[in-house]
Amino acid sequence: MSNYHIKNFEEYYQVYRKSVRNPENFWEEVAEEHFVWRKKWDSVLEWDFSKPEIKWFQGAKLNITENCLDRHLPVRGDKTAILFEPNDPKEEAQHITYKQLHEKVCRFANVLKDNGIEKGDRVVIYLPMIPELAVSLLACARIGAIHSVVFAGFSSTALATRINDCKAKMVVTSDGSYRGAKTIDLKGIVDEALEKCPGVETVLVAKRTKSKITMKEGRDQWLQPLLDKAYADYTADIMDAEDPLFILYTSGSTGKPKGMMHTIGGYMVYTAYTFKNVFQYREEDVYWCTADIGWITGHSYIVYGPLANGATTVMFEGVPSYPDFGRFWDVVQKHKINQFYTAPTAIRALAKENLDFVTEYDLSCLKVLGTVGEPINEEAWHWYNDHVGEKKCPIVDTWWQTETGGILISPIPFSTPTKPTYATLPMPGIQPALMDENGKEIKGNQVDGRLCIKFPWPSIARTIWGDHQRYKDTYFSAFKGMYFTGDGALRDEVGYYRITGRVDDVIIVSGHNLGTAPIEDAINEHPAVAESAIVGFPHDVKGNALYGYVILKETGQSRDRDNLKKEINQVITEHIGPIAKLDKIQFVPGLPKTRSGKIMRRILRKIASKDTGNLGDTSTLLNPEVVDIIMRESL
Ligand code: PRX
Repeated sequence: MSNYHIKNFEEYYQVYRKSVRNPENFWEEVAEEHFVWRKKWDSVLEWDFSKPEIKWFQGAKLNITENCLDRHLPVRGDKTAILFEPNDPKEEAQHITYKQLHEKVCRFANVLKDNGIEKGDRVVIYLPMIPELAVSLLACARIGAIHSVVFAGFSSTALATRINDCKAKMVVTSDGSYRGAKTIDLKGIVDEALEKCPGVETVLVAKRTKSKITMKEGRDQWLQPLLDKAYADYTADIMDAEDPLFILYTSGSTGKPKGMMHTIGGYMVYTAYTFKNVFQYREEDVYWCTADIGWITGHSYIVYGPLANGATTVMFEGVPSYPDFGRFWDVVQKHKINQFYTAPTAIRALAKENLDFVTEYDLSCLKVLGTVGEPINEEAWHWYNDHVGEKKCPIVDTWWQTETGGILISPIPFSTPTKPTYATLPMPGIQPALMDENGKEIKGNQVDGRLCIKFPWPSIARTIWGDHQRYKDTYFSAFKGMYFTGDGALRDEVGYYRITGRVDDVIIVSGHNLGTAPIEDAINEHPAVAESAIVGFPHDVKGNALYGYVILKETGQSRDRDNLKKEINQVITEHIGPIAKLDKIQFVPGLPKTRSGKIMRRILRKIASKDTGNLGDTSTLLNPEVVDIIMRESL
């Protein structure tokens, strides 16, 4: 029996039991047998959740790109590593072999070095889903620079905040990006952001849309000529297992975004291991994850996990609705995709369209279907199962987070019997616990509570960049000795987990994490706004949509309300990005507050969801009369 590749349910249980009896031994065996290390570790794991401090494979030396590229060259050098499917289906797909990818990464690594990037420097990457994006991540990893990808849908303000938070010296971007029928001026957004980022010395610009852009003398350089001139080989720098690999920002319920920092060794081992098992990837398979590399899903399951397994991984530049709603299935048929991994919001959007968009294509190549990012509702699950998988493909509902680095709870296809809306069972090495509000673990089955993890796994984020105290407060303080996920979950009669959603002020809209506080802060910048509160409400495609309660200042009272709504969404777009726009805005005379001044969001959530039968205890409210007004005028 191999620890690395689980092939049936009995094996899952055996491996799982072994993994939790002695996690160090378990991960040591996996790490030893399946990866290339320049030097082995001195200790497998050192941890203390009270500090918190977590170190895996300490003392080991490696370069993750040797594991993702070099070691494959003798055995699968001519195999496609990245299969690039452009936005426009008429543009030809690109098959980039492992040999070619290796060369591209080496050239890019030389360009980084030639432009003054050293080990430990931060490089912000703001690129669309084009091959240069994956190449730039790997090039940073090859020289030991820390990449921080910012999703190319974020606004210039959001980009500037992230660049300044991690003190990046360089930004990699493109002239523009394609998104369906639209062309977006990415370089213009970068230029605007950089007005607020004095620390950025160099901007490398990939050519994609051939749009007219301005290049700032002494700062901006076209990427391609530099790559053409660069030497085609670069010996990977040797890194410590616990050196940082990347920073990726995620929303918190309060304050600025959190730069989750992941380190090299453990992240590599865990993402590779889970990729192999959750997708049951076989050598000839073509795997497609539709996420953007700007999110953790793309980091772990488009780039690092698949490449560490020598897989063929698809990068898709487009959107599911362009040129029509059959695009996903067209790509599946065209590239004979075997594993397909997407978000429930995409499934819901496609399920609303004519079924002919699906049935027109031959999807018999599919073996495994996956979902990630938010709970999948029963209806969407069945649609996916019936019409895409034709009832032959197990659906892996994978639960995890930016912070966890890799999938923590998921069925193993062809092993774990699936159950709609359930992420089912923990991966080997993962020890979930459900906690009650008093901090006690709830044992047994058919229970629900707050989801925590009791023991570290190799790819847990090690800190929040520049703010270790916040890392401790957010994840390790709510429940003593445990990592707190921020999610609620239930455990059914056989021990399967179902994630019920966030229990904090993070709202998941179309699979994107949005904190309420940053949106409220943005709205409050509008000169007519006195105060605001954002809550989520159920939406049939997005999962959740945003509902804003806004108190206007005296000066705003006489303004045209429709115009004000537009302006408020414009402010949000400028500060965060269009993904955080509000679906509904209600102007209110006040917000329900407790005597200590805390907004009672529970009540606002109920009103927004039209669930006003029982508002719960309102006796602690300072201003109960406002609730009636808000209810009467609700949208
Ligand atoms: O609430 C959970 C939800 O997404 C959150 C993490 O978001 P993010 O860090 O952006 O990472 C998303 C991609 C890994 C979680 O706290 N979530 C993620 N996957 C699922 C999920 N909720 C239910 N079911 C899932 N499969």
